[in-house]
Amino acid sequence: MQRQAPIADPAVTVNFDGQSGELVILDQTLLPGEVRYLRLTRPEEVREAIYNLRVRGAPAIGVAAAYGAYLGACRSRASDVPGISRDFQAASALLKAARPTAVNLAWALERMAHAFRASAHLPPTGLLAGLKTEADLIRTEDEEVCRRIGENGLALLQPGWGLLTHCNAGALATSRYGTATAPIYLGEQKGYAFRVFADETRPLLQGARLTAWELNAAGIDVTVICDNMASMVMSRGWVQAVLVGCDRVAANGDAANKIGTSGVAILAKHYGIPFYVHAPLSSIDPACFSGRDIPIEERAQEEIAEMWYARRMTPQGVKTFNPAFDVTDSALITAIVTEKGVIRPPYTESIRALFP
Ligand code: MRU
Repeated sequence: MQRQAPIADPAVTVNFDGQSGELVILDQTLLPGEVRYLRLTRPEEVREAIYNLRVRGAPAIGVAAAYGAYLGACRSRASDVPGISRDFQAASALLKAARPTAVNLAWALERMAHAFRASAHLPPTGLLAGLKTEADLIRTEDEEVCRRIGENGLALLQPGWGLLTHCNAGALATSRYGTATAPIYLGEQKGYAFRVFADETRPLLQGARLTAWELNAAGIDVTVICDNMASMVMSRGWVQAVLVGCDRVAANGDAANKIGTSGVAILAKHYGIPFYVHAPLSSIDPACFSGRDIPIEERAQEEIAEMWYARRMTPQGVKTFNPAFDVTDSALITAIVTEKGVIRPPYTESIRALFP
């Protein structure tokens, strides 16, 4: 009999309340201690929520940005399409600059810009309806895409395996299922009984706070380890595959994901453990030739020096370096799991085949 593993409600992470005209997001900065929803009505509020990781994860920030651009058009004081267009474009530019690495943000806003052009001949009410439909589509398609990634990824795994994941590429980071967690949820429904190790993921603790929270809520066996424990856990033979998400895959298969991912990939290679990157097509950027072309976000030093501590843990005046992402060399990636199937090296060819 199939078990129905509860997966974080799609309404939880990011959704739009059509009655009130508000974007509703779960404030992920408060998890796991507090489940609080924010209701946003202005693009500036959506930008703030994306920048401060209240809503986070590549697909989820794409969905939030799409609704943010829609809100920019809705709140325009202009009564004609050229005026609405100016406010829509200003909102889109603001949102696009919120975080640079995840290409889903630009991808979603480009889809919204296309929808705007397609409805620009309509009166304002029709134009706004067209934008809302597109944002809704971006959200609902993401759920289906993640489900397919889950099916494709599950075919690579066996019941009872130990799996290690980094950061949170879970239901919280998408419309539903997650990317790297999708095979885990689908496997749980089939009784696969995976044992998951979640790297805590310094400095913002997405693994300890978010992955652990949502997998535990789904009844999945999850153990949190500090980032520097992955090698030990692998050396004991407890990990049969590493599953991670990504923020942008370059045309040659290099993949940017949360800082620390490339180190995990190097360890996996050392221990002969397959390393799988889970990527919706919206995270693949054929315009980036290699990982060197992927912009890497740098964040505030407080995240390293002060956050989570009762007292500051780095001496005043000492420099910090806080890159939010790193790039895993394609040579370390066993396969990339997409909604269109599992692709393998040579990635330049297999990625090109995904975008005929
Ligand atoms: O900084 P974050 O928390 O947005 O980083 C998220 C990640 O690195 C995820 O692994 C990635 O966005 C994929 S989410 C399905």
